[in-house]
Amino acid sequence: MRHAFALLIFPGLLAMPLTATAEQADVRAMTREAREVARELIEDLGDALKTALAESGPDGAITVCRDTAPALANALSLRTGWKVSRVSLKTRNALIGQPDAWEQVILQRFDEEAKGGADAGKMIAAEIVNEPDADYFRFMKALPVKPLCLTCHGGDQTIPASVRQTLAREYPNDKATGYFAGQIRGAVTIKRKLDPDP
Ligand code: HEC
Repeated sequence: MRHAFALLIFPGLLAMPLTATAEQADVRAMTREAREVARELIEDLGDALKTALAESGPDGAITVCRDTAPALANALSLRTGWKVSRVSLKTRNALIGQPDAWEQVILQRFDEEAKGGADAGKMIAAEIVNEPDADYFRFMKALPVKPLCLTCHGGDQTIPASVRQTLAREYPNDKATGYFAGQIRGAVTIKRKLDPDP
C-alpha cells in the first residue's frame, strides 16, 4: 500500500525536501507531464476562443466553450489515458463541470490565494490521493478570469444582451457569471490512476 503523500505547490513555494524519495520523484515527473497537458488544453482553447470571437462574435463563440472545450479535453484524455476536464465552484454546466471533494478543497484554496494577491495564472496543485479503488495522481491548474472571459462570465455590463439570452435559454442554472478579471474561474483537472505496488 502506498502512503499518502501530499505535494502542494503554490507560487513562491516549492515543498521539496533535499533528498527526494522515489515516490516524490514520481510526483515531480508526473507533475511536469500534467503541466504540459494542462498548458496544451488552455492554449488550444484560448486560441479557439479568440478566433471564434474575432470571426463570429460572442454569440458564435459560445459553441467553443460549450463544444470545443470538452472535445479538446476528451481528445487529451484519449491520448494520455488520464481523465482531463474542467471544473468550477460556480458551474455553468453542472453536468460536466462539477468538482469532486478533492477538487473543491483545491479550488477553495486557489480562491483564498487569489484573494491574498497571488497570481492565479501560476497556481497548481499536485498530489497522490488514496481512493477506495486505487491511488491516483491528481493535478489541478487554476484558470484565471481574463478580460476575454468577461464576455460570457462577467456581469451585465460585459455580457452582450444576445449572449445573456442564449445563456439563459441553454443554461437555466448558470452560476458562472459575475466574475471580474484576476479571479479564478475554475481549473483544469487531471486524474491519473497509479499501478498498484507489486
Ligand atoms: C463566448 C462565450 C464564452 C467565453 C468568451 C468564455 N466562456 Fe467559459 N463557458 C462558456 C459556456 C457556454 C460554458 C458551458 C460549457 C458547457 O456546456 O460545458 C462555459 C464553461 C466554462 C468552464 C467549465 C465549467 C463550468 O462552469 O461549466 C470553464 C472552466 C470556463 N468556461 C472558463 C472560461 C475561461 C477561463 C474563459 C476565458 C479564457 C472563458 N471560459 C471564456 C462560454 C464562454
